Amino acid sequence: MLTVQDLRCEYHRDPLGIDARQPRLSWRLSAGRRGAVQSAYQIQVEDQEGNEHWGTGKVAGDRSVHVPYEGPPLRSGQRYTWRVRAWDAEDAPSAWSAPAWWEMGLLAPADWRASWIEPGWEVDPKAFKPCPYLRRTFRIEDQVRSARAYVTSHGLYELSLNGQCVGDQVLTPGFTSYHDRLQYQVYDVGDLLVEGENAIGAILGDGWYRGSVDVASRRNVYGEHLALLLQIHVRYQDGREAWVTSDEGWRATTGPILKSDLKDGEIYDARREMPGWDSPGFDDGDWRAVRVGDYGYDNLVAPVGPPVRKQERFPATRVLQTPKGEWVVDLGQNIAGWLRFEVQGLTGTTVTLTHGEALDKDGNFTLDHLQLVGIGARLAQQVRYTLKGGGVESYEPHFTVHGYRYVKVEGWPGEPAPEQFTGVAIYSDMPPTGTFECSDERINQLQHNIVWSMKGNFLDVPTDCPTRERSGWTGDAQIFCRTGSFLMETAPFFRAWLRDLAADQHADGCVPNWVPDTTRYYDDKVMAMLTGSAGWGDAAVIVPWTLYQCYGDPGILEEQYESMRAWVEYERAHARDVNWSKVIHPAYWFDRARQARQPYIWDTRYHWGEWLEPGDGYGLGQFAGMLKRRIFSVPLVATAYYAYSTRLLAEIAHLLGKEEDAREYGELAAAIAAAYADEFVGPDARIEPHKQASYVRALALDLLPQDQRRAALVHLVRLIEEAGVHLGTGFLSTPFLLHVLSEGGRLDLAYALLVQDTIPSWLYAVTKGATTIWESWEGVKEDGSLFGSLNHYSYGAVGSWLYQVVAGIEIGAPGYEEIRIQPRPGGGLTYARATYESMHGPIVSGWEIEDGTLRLSVTIPPNTRATVRLPGAALSEVEEGELPVKDADGVSAVTQLENAVQVRVGSGQYVFGYPYRE
Ligand code: BGC
Repeated sequence: MLTVQDLRCEYHRDPLGIDARQPRLSWRLSAGRRGAVQSAYQIQVEDQEGNEHWGTGKVAGDRSVHVPYEGPPLRSGQRYTWRVRAWDAEDAPSAWSAPAWWEMGLLAPADWRASWIEPGWEVDPKAFKPCPYLRRTFRIEDQVRSARAYVTSHGLYELSLNGQCVGDQVLTPGFTSYHDRLQYQVYDVGDLLVEGENAIGAILGDGWYRGSVDVASRRNVYGEHLALLLQIHVRYQDGREAWVTSDEGWRATTGPILKSDLKDGEIYDARREMPGWDSPGFDDGDWRAVRVGDYGYDNLVAPVGPPVRKQERFPATRVLQTPKGEWVVDLGQNIAGWLRFEVQGLTGTTVTLTHGEALDKDGNFTLDHLQLVGIGARLAQQVRYTLKGGGVESYEPHFTVHGYRYVKVEGWPGEPAPEQFTGVAIYSDMPPTGTFECSDERINQLQHNIVWSMKGNFLDVPTDCPTRERSGWTGDAQIFCRTGSFLMETAPFFRAWLRDLAADQHADGCVPNWVPDTTRYYDDKVMAMLTGSAGWGDAAVIVPWTLYQCYGDPGILEEQYESMRAWVEYERAHARDVNWSKVIHPAYWFDRARQARQPYIWDTRYHWGEWLEPGDGYGLGQFAGMLKRRIFSVPLVATAYYAYSTRLLAEIAHLLGKEEDAREYGELAAAIAAAYADEFVGPDARIEPHKQASYVRALALDLLPQDQRRAALVHLVRLIEEAGVHLGTGFLSTPFLLHVLSEGGRLDLAYALLVQDTIPSWLYAVTKGATTIWESWEGVKEDGSLFGSLNHYSYGAVGSWLYQVVAGIEIGAPGYEEIRIQPRPGGGLTYARATYESMHGPIVSGWEIEDGTLRLSVTIPPNTRATVRLPGAALSEVEEGELPVKDADGVSAVTQLENAVQVRVGSGQYVFGYPYRE
């Protein structure tokens, strides 16, 4: 008998305020026995008056995720309650699930009754400015049945009602391409209202809207004025309705927050606090009037991604005094977030806290490695707090975030003590979905570092780092998406970001370097020239494709299809151009074959190339490299990604039933791959530059004729060996490196690279005490000097190999509807275990080898099936539970393969055991 549980709408549990017109519904099944499947389902939806709104009747089939709502149009602000039941293979129905609900946001501009308001004073766009405080009082006439607040802002907002904070989100309304997509949040404020006089207050911060953004630390990118849009919809017990809105009746002033900037930090003067400012009865006589702004409602959207919240707390592990004599607080973990502190001292005392990631080679506090010389303002990450005095004061910033582990403390009254400081991690509240552990503590630390670089860089948009640039670099996101989507549920997060990507995409299909694309709103000729890079822009195709694989959600492909196609067309248009250096070469004009394949070789425009291979640094060399890539382009990399994205697009077109596109792009992809092989691959499969990345890329992206794959692998292996078993890849190829080796029959070498701990390697950083993934292989050099950001998730993409190969949880069919469990022990590990919460439920693969016996524990969720490969097994020796595997319940298709046994299983938990032959 099945049980239906964990109902979700557009990925979320009971979402408050969505604007999907046809939300997709998902549920999970549980069953007391193995091999459970759903043979039919039924959905019922009620409106908020309790009337039947829509139902499916009994629908045959095993579909249990992303089932689209197909009833009558959904109405703004209405709550819909739904439940599901399911039939098992024997056609026995489950009980109805517990009810779940979703509530619609405001679907049309006309649903907004509020006006945009902004403080009525003039501002100097160049100066940092105090945060505006806005307030209004209003009356509640009767007993309230329900009340919702719909809120957004230009800049960030913090909202309070009758002195109480509204909701637990921070840095709202989040970061999107504001002029196309500005999110509003919806809050249930019924419990905060009182009969009689009420007061509502909002503080506005510069945020991404007009604060420092991107590598250039540009300001006022989206506008110069902060503004608020708010409406509260009140429903009284007796059915009457009322609205409280942002309008000219509000009052505004400035208060204790004298400056707030995401990168620069915050200045707070506690002496200027205004107790009771957001409660009724406060005298706002000296506050000023607000101005009504005309900003419209067309760009307003309900969030699809998860909210940003305060997450883990890190009490300081120590306070140290550096050789320079400075006091430095150490959290023991590099995070993105802010610092909460408690302080006691005389009124007017100012304490200054500067946040950094590391101590330099002499043990002193530094931010130097995070500065890009000559570009933008110096990264400050500084909080200044002036005490009001008279007792213990505690402070947490409002509108700033820092990437840090260490905090330099200046001006502290007395000696700072660890108990006075707590780091607060801040990131998008994505449900954690994946875990990994094994018998090698160093690899476990690597896993920890991957997780923390994800947490440090998933703040509403996927950023490169939480310090220097904080930008949604497309390449980084593409590289890390598969690993990140194992660790946490990223689909809604990336879906929001992909909508911004499409919004910021240029008319010719060019995808900007980072999304949201702040450069769209200022004129920077250099940046404009550096945009549209292969491997970066391809995020437009690779990210949706990866999400589709992980979540089985075709909606994401549909939504992004035009954007993907536009990107591939952009690649195609630029591939048709010829690089000038070829044209001036007479040999080119005599080579017919070369000219014939030229339209498929992308050798124009700027590309970042492989990016940050070992030994690459910033500084002059980097600029010279950029210049060279601008002049000569990077055809080897660009053509590879052009082929790859085109092939994926063909496959996606086919999935969406766009057969004509599928054919066209399929043929194009084949032509590019053929041209690639002719242009770049020698008869002995040699590729120039003769570097690891060249072979990894060609093998991983399937660009080589079958008979050359072996030889290419031999080149790769030799290069790795010549480097003393060290990797040599940069951003783009690192995620593929170990996969290419293990698939090519060199599992041993893949493990040897994984456990390598001298520079360059993943574990080198671990031996240097890293708690996050570094941007460069040489983040902390042997001598302790620092280089680049220490919280960049890109190289953490090796995680996918840990989960998919070491523990062996692999996608068999999109969304893990079909699972492959295929662990591959090695590297001296005695156990490894991964767990993953799929849309269907938990998947587990954990193996251990003890006294020559391998035991593999597997969990497969209901309504899915798996092929399990038992490495090093002989059929006659395998047991499941207590029984010979052939006789085990729920196990079928038992087959002996070369040095492995393969079985098919349905849902359930299994334990296989056998003498292990390496
Ligand atoms: C960023 C990246 C990005 C790269 C482009 C760097 O400055 O931090 O992670 O992908 O530039 O190559």
